[in-house]
Amino acid sequence: MQIIDGKQVAQRFRGELKKRIDILAGKGIVPGLSVILVGNDPASASYVKGKEKACLELGMHSDNLHLPQDLSQEKLISIIEEKNADPRIHGILVQLPLPSHINEEAVIMAIDYRKDVDGFHPVNIGRMVIGKETFLPCTPHGILVLLKSAGIPVAGSHVVVVGRSNIVGKPVANMLVQKNGLGNATVTVCHTGTKDLAHHTRQADIIIAAAGKAGMITADMVAEGAVVIDVGVNRVDDPTKKRGYRLVGDVDFDQVAPKTSFITPVPGGVGPMTITMLMSNTVESAERSIKE
Ligand SMILES: NC(=O)c1ccc[n+]([C@@H]2O[C@H](COP(=O)([O-])OP(=O)(O)OC[C@H]3O[C@@H](n4cnc5c(N)ncnc54)[C@H](OP(=O)(O)O)[C@@H]3O)[C@@H](O)[C@H]2O)c1
Repeated sequence: MQIIDGKQVAQRFRGELKKRIDILAGKGIVPGLSVILVGNDPASASYVKGKEKACLELGMHSDNLHLPQDLSQEKLISIIEEKNADPRIHGILVQLPLPSHINEEAVIMAIDYRKDVDGFHPVNIGRMVIGKETFLPCTPHGILVLLKSAGIPVAGSHVVVVGRSNIVGKPVANMLVQKNGLGNATVTVCHTGTKDLAHHTRQADIIIAAAGKAGMITADMVAEGAVVIDVGVNRVDDPTKKRGYRLVGDVDFDQVAPKTSFITPVPGGVGPMTITMLMSNTVESAERSIKE
């Protein structure tokens, strides 16, 4: 069994990104990312901080806006339109979830799809599905890069994805069926409507667990030698920790790991890749701005 070290893979990938950022700097361009946070959700605030830190470490321009919880949808959209028009900004990300009085879909639609580095705009999702160049959604892209970096053969493998959300399950399944160097897999997508989940997961060469349920993938659900990618990030109470909880994945790591050929830990697996792919999309957007 081998543990895939997401931090290490992300670090290597960022090294390559830095070279592209230096080339852009030589042409007078600094990739700029605008991250917009509305309200005071502590988890969102910590994700936003991580994105700012990554930007600064790579020598990118970070434009963070922290807006009040009661901000109107109209005001948020007018701020997005300003960023759409700002040539220093190559990527715009609105941290989700938004307060309930704001319609997420309307906000995503307001982002110029050419700056939608989260890859959530329907134009980018559509381009991904038909296999055209686009901004790939960050967590699914990170998963595919992790698999490739570990030398795991995806092409021809049977991948079982547990979860069908718009940000993880559906896009990762779509990317895996593409006829390209990252995909070409046979994919089964499972969800709460699936009968006998374990029957499906046991057939998998690769399991991608993205259900958001702590420890739900148990050893009896995994074939000997399978690859297990754990996307879940779940808080479980832990009085021994200063903050009163710890983070665990969707996989019962201690029981499952010995059966696998490769497995990702939580934290330190998929998580570090997500921010790295966001930086990569922002750099790509800056590179495209020269071509245009
Ligand atoms: N590391 C990262 O960078 C990163 C990024 C994004 C998300 N995450 C984590 O990944 C997890 C999933 O996130 P998400 O946004 O995709 O979650 P989500 O929107 O809640 O979707 C969860 C999906 O899992 C399915 N599901 C839930 N319980 C299930 C069960 N018992 N059996 C089969 N399917 C089940 C749901 O099915 P239905 O559709 O039928 O309800 C749904 O499709 C969360 O823990 C999240 O924190 C991590």
